Amino acid sequence: MSAKNLDLGNFAQDVLLGLSAEPKSLPSKYFYDAKGDKLFQQIMDMPEYYLTRKEFEILENQHAKILANILDFNRPFNLVELGAGDGLKTKILLRYLVEKGVSFEYFPIDFSGSVLVELKESLRQEMPDLKVSAIEDTYRGSLLKRQWANGNPTLILFLGGNIGNFPLEEAHDVLDHLRLGTERGDEVLLGFDLKKNPQTILDAYHDHAGITKEFNINLLRRMNRELGANFDLDQFMHWPSYNPVDGECRSHLVSMKAQNVFIESLNQSFKFDAFEPIFTEISKKYSISEIKKLAKRSGFKIKEAFADSEDYFADVLWERK
Ligand SMILES: C[S@@+](CC[C@H](N)C(=O)[O-])C[C@H]1O[C@@H](n2cnc3c(N)ncnc32)[C@H](O)[C@@H]1O
Repeated sequence: MSAKNLDLGNFAQDVLLGLSAEPKSLPSKYFYDAKGDKLFQQIMDMPEYYLTRKEFEILENQHAKILANILDFNRPFNLVELGAGDGLKTKILLRYLVEKGVSFEYFPIDFSGSVLVELKESLRQEMPDLKVSAIEDTYRGSLLKRQWANGNPTLILFLGGNIGNFPLEEAHDVLDHLRLGTERGDEVLLGFDLKKNPQTILDAYHDHAGITKEFNINLLRRMNRELGANFDLDQFMHWPSYNPVDGECRSHLVSMKAQNVFIESLNQSFKFDAFEPIFTEISKKYSISEIKKLAKRSGFKIKEAFADSEDYFADVLWERK
């Protein structure tokens, strides 16, 4: 039976597409199974991984200023979050709003069901009065459906490196969806990792403890488990690279020898040359002038940019024109 005749799930289909392409690639969204979620939480604690700490600092020190605009509406609003993850940083904003007695509903969106279950449970314990409606969907799917639309103004959070996980052209497409998913006057708080010393950036994706490596290798482990693949995990190497010209930090898994890998659910073997890379993830870095251009072309105006003390990271508030 050929792969064409099999009833393939999305994961298998995406793997087939990615491993048949040249150069080979795998979509980064499949990093986040239950183990991947846990590994990402460990990455955020690594000393080299400055992104979470820096954004935490911004939200901790500047949350009142960031939320002042939306509170000026003086009426209930929707707080939507794209790719909410464990909500660690978002909880700074949520706690502040709850303490102020502001009327709002929180809509965390994530395509990882397991991450949403954990988030809902931790919010129920920490902020029992908070109204939470979790949505298991993709960024684009949820922005097209707008399940939160109820006539109230909306603030969309798109924090962390989430928009940076797309190459520029795809980021344009996601931001076009953001425009479709918002109304004039709605606001969006977007996290951007800023261009900086290339070594600092590279180190963030190559921590000494090897957690980022584990996170990448886990993708192969997931294929072994869910698709019946026989990847030899010791024969692939994690290899990040950073290009300061386009700001793209790219992760690869490099096959350490010529080898064939059989994937049962595709009923197909894939041939790897010695040192052939599989592209797994992009994390694009932006300059402030690039962020300005991005907002303009996407139909938003920049209200204010909030950076950390070292200008490593910025949360930028956009208003839908
Ligand atoms: C890198 S984590 C960041 C989480 C959190 N926003 C933060 O800044 O710490 C990305 C989260 O977005 C989710 N995610 C990634 N791509 C997505 C997509 N296309 N649609 C919906 N969720 C996505 C993942 O499941 C994961 O929980």
